[in-house]
Amino acid sequence: MMKHIFKQGTDPAAPVLLLLHGTGGTERDLLPLADRLSPASSVLSVRGNVLENGMPRYFRRLAEGVFDLEDLVFRTKELNDFLDSAAEQYGFDRSNLVAIGYSNGANIAGSLLFHYQGTLRGAILHHPMVPIRDVALPDLTDVPCFIGAGSNDPLCTPQETEELNQMLQGAGASVTLHWEQFGHQLTSSEVAAAAAWYTSTFKNE
Ligand code: MLT
Repeated sequence: MMKHIFKQGTDPAAPVLLLLHGTGGTERDLLPLADRLSPASSVLSVRGNVLENGMPRYFRRLAEGVFDLEDLVFRTKELNDFLDSAAEQYGFDRSNLVAIGYSNGANIAGSLLFHYQGTLRGAILHHPMVPIRDVALPDLTDVPCFIGAGSNDPLCTPQETEELNQMLQGAGASVTLHWEQFGHQLTSSEVAAAAAWYTSTFKNE
C-alpha cells in the first residue's frame, strides 16, 4: 500500500497518468501537470514510501546522486505491485499508464521501465538520471519517452542524460530529448514541450 490520490477521469480510453514527485514532494505536487496534459485522463499520484530527513522519496540514496541500488530494486517492485493492485481497486486499464516524473520521481519511473516489461505505456521524465547500470533492459519498442533535461543541471549532467537516452533507445524506445538551461528546475517551457509531445504522441492516434 502506498499513499496516493486517484482521480477518475472522464475519458476511459485516455491514458491513466501516473504522477511521481521529486524529493521532498507529495502526491499533490504534479496534479497541475496532469490537468495541463490530459484533463480527461484518470490520475494516479503516488507518494514515495521512503523518508530522508522527513522528505518523501521513492528509494534511498547514500549521498546526493548515489543510489542505494538494493533499495531501488526493492522499491521499484513495491511500486510496480502497487500499480497492479491500484488498477484492480479502481478498475483502470493497467496497460494504459503513462508516467510523469520529476527528479527522484523520474528516476523511479526510469527504474520501472528498466525492470518491468509493459509496466508503462510511455513516460515523461523531467530531469532523470540513469537509475541503475548493468541490467538488461526489456523491449521498449512501443514505449515512447520524453526526457526534459538541463544543459547546466548539476545533478543530472548532460552526459548522464545522453547515457540514459542511449540506453532507452538501445532497448527500442523512441525518445524525444528536450534541453533547457535552468539547472535542475522544471520550467514552464519544459512543461509546454512535454505537453506538445504528449499531444502528438497520444492524442493523434
Ligand atoms: C535522486 O536522488 O533521485 C536524485 O538525486 C534526484 C533527486 O532526488 O533530487
